[in-house]
Amino acid sequence: MKKKIISAMLGIAMLGTLLTGCGGSDSSESKETTAKATEVEKTEASGGDETTEAKADDAAASGSHKIGVSMPTKDLQRWNQDGENMKSQLESAGYEVDLQFASNDIQTQVSQVENMISGDCELLVIASIDGDSLGTVLAQAKEKNIPVIAYDRLIMNSDAVTYYATFDNYLVGQKQGEFIEEKLDLKNAEGPFNMEIVTGDPGDNNVNFFYGGAMDVLKPYIDSGKLVVKSGQIEKADVATANWATDAAQARFEAIISSYYSDGTNLDVVLASNDSTALGVANALAANYTGTYPILTGQDCDIASVKNILADKQSMSIFKDTRDLASKVVEMVDAIINGKEIEGLDTTTYDNGKGIVPSYLCEPVFADKNNYKEILIDSGYYQESDLQ
Ligand code: BGC
Repeated sequence: MKKKIISAMLGIAMLGTLLTGCGGSDSSESKETTAKATEVEKTEASGGDETTEAKADDAAASGSHKIGVSMPTKDLQRWNQDGENMKSQLESAGYEVDLQFASNDIQTQVSQVENMISGDCELLVIASIDGDSLGTVLAQAKEKNIPVIAYDRLIMNSDAVTYYATFDNYLVGQKQGEFIEEKLDLKNAEGPFNMEIVTGDPGDNNVNFFYGGAMDVLKPYIDSGKLVVKSGQIEKADVATANWATDAAQARFEAIISSYYSDGTNLDVVLASNDSTALGVANALAANYTGTYPILTGQDCDIASVKNILADKQSMSIFKDTRDLASKVVEMVDAIINGKEIEGLDTTTYDNGKGIVPSYLCEPVFADKNNYKEILIDSGYYQESDLQ
């Protein structure tokens, strides 16, 4: 009886948690669900391990379920964390997990997903390397009625994608742009200021949001001449970094420094979409640049970049708590496996070329030297010793 009640409450909690942790429609219905969920969460908080037990019961009730989790690479810090969080949270909820990393190689990811399909995975969670390259293999999943959750990156041009879970990536870019606007006081200062731009892999749909969100803030200043991009590399295709690789960002940036900033010309700001590319920029600056150190943005709060923030070599980052994303995805998995409905999703924004994919968006958080302790250390994401 107790288990049944907990299971029923969990259903509500699950829907509510989806709404509280992530963005969704703001209807009164969803507010009510959120309130109910908060009540349940409070009860759970005093009830020890019941959440995990009940989730495990939920999964176990209908037999053991195998979930395939496909991550792009182990080379970048965040995907290791995402993979580990997904595996441990799914396992605590009673699922069997097939976790694979694809070395940033599209064909490897396709083969790994094929193996998951033939290896009896009942649901796939995929962070794609290239959003456009999974259509054929996902058609096989669809044929076998295997639902697919696109993790962090939207999978494009496939009608096999059931849900999409990510952070609000437009907001990530917007926060980076607004940080630059504020730091340089662009609304009032005369300028001009020299800026360069570095973004990520062209096959990653998120790039459109990072670049778009930042450029919506900064482009007017470029157009008016207050921000000057001396390299002339402004268009998304010109500022891309294959595979988000630090080395590639560094090589491109070394060339920019030697062509445009080696004669004493100051570089005031670098818009870098994430930490792995910001690290390449920081390396290039350390090797070849003698002017005043520029403002440098980033995203992910990778350890190397938080260290650079503490050493004044990077100005800010964006904290995407991958624990939150994983737990929301586990809730989605539970809902799909147990045939429950998910409410409060964004059903208007994310069109993958075959239609809108119902999505939910976790909140990205601004991080710098002033708040890193609170958001990264106090929350248990890192130990202080990780950053030394
Ligand atoms: C993620 C970013 C990450 C980048 C490189 C993007 O899809 O959203 O958080 O920095 O990939 O791994």
